[in-house]
Amino acid sequence: MATSGVPPLPPDLEPWGEKDFAPIMAFLRNQIGITLESHRMGLMQARLRSRLQAKGFLSFTHFLDQVLKVDPNGWGTQLLIDLSTVNHTAFFREPAHFTFMAEKVAAWLKESGNAPIRLWSAGCSSGQEPYSMAMVLAETLPAPMLQKIEIWASDLSLEMLKVAAGAIYTTRDVQGISPARLRRFFLLGRGPREGSFRMVPEIRDLVKFRHLDLRNPTWAVPTDFPMIFCRNVSIYFAEDERLTLMNRLAQHLRPGGWLAMGNGEILPGVPPSLRKHSPSLFQKEG
Ligand SMILES: C[S@@+](CC[C@H](N)C(=O)[O-])C[C@H]1O[C@@H](n2cnc3c(N)ncnc32)[C@H](O)[C@@H]1O
Repeated sequence: MATSGVPPLPPDLEPWGEKDFAPIMAFLRNQIGITLESHRMGLMQARLRSRLQAKGFLSFTHFLDQVLKVDPNGWGTQLLIDLSTVNHTAFFREPAHFTFMAEKVAAWLKESGNAPIRLWSAGCSSGQEPYSMAMVLAETLPAPMLQKIEIWASDLSLEMLKVAAGAIYTTRDVQGISPARLRRFFLLGRGPREGSFRMVPEIRDLVKFRHLDLRNPTWAVPTDFPMIFCRNVSIYFAEDERLTLMNRLAQHLRPGGWLAMGNGEILPGVPPSLRKHSPSLFQKEG
């Protein structure tokens, strides 16, 4: 990166120090809406510093002035999003929601006639959640019925969406998956891919990935989902934003549709359009 023309830092500002980093945190909070918990700031600072140094930047301030302020919707903002979001996920995490979906899907198919059944994994991270949905449905439904299923999967992080679409997982990622499921739904890597596991095309083809910020005022997604998984995403949101998020997700459910949130999420209440079925499962009126 050319550094000529870069204004000098104020004399009391140590490059890569706390004071230099603070405006980046303010940008993340005010422009992107992510407030980092204090215990995650040190790691974020170290990861961002190493990425920026590799690109030739001299300080956080230079990155702020030259990239974030110049193009607030550009690569710098995406880098901040990718580094600051917690992407922890797992296959069949919080399994009761998958069992619940499997019990309901036959009825949804019956109700919908010839129309497809669409399900949504909102905040899908590296893909384990939507692929788990797909595996459970492949086990539940006869093959011709499976053709009527579409799984929408979205995330804010482009980096995570790339991993998800690639559908390649490590031994650690698949530990805990039963041998029968491993045999049926994963291809074993060979040669340079030895030790990796790729989802089979039957499962990959059921899932369509999209880049979507759940904070945006409009989402180009259908409004007739019988079930939406939005689990462990609202941890990034302030309390009032969590209620708004649930309310807006409810608008994308068909009447009687279901919203699954994470078991450990602290929810400030239930929007009027939803009824609480269990601590993490909500049903739309109607
Ligand atoms: C902890 S992971 C949860 C993944 C999966 N739902 C699960 O429960 O295993 C949270 C995901 O939410 C995504 N996320 C955070 N803020 C978001 C937003 N505003 N819009 C869309 N996705 C967001 C993150 O990028 C991350 O991949």
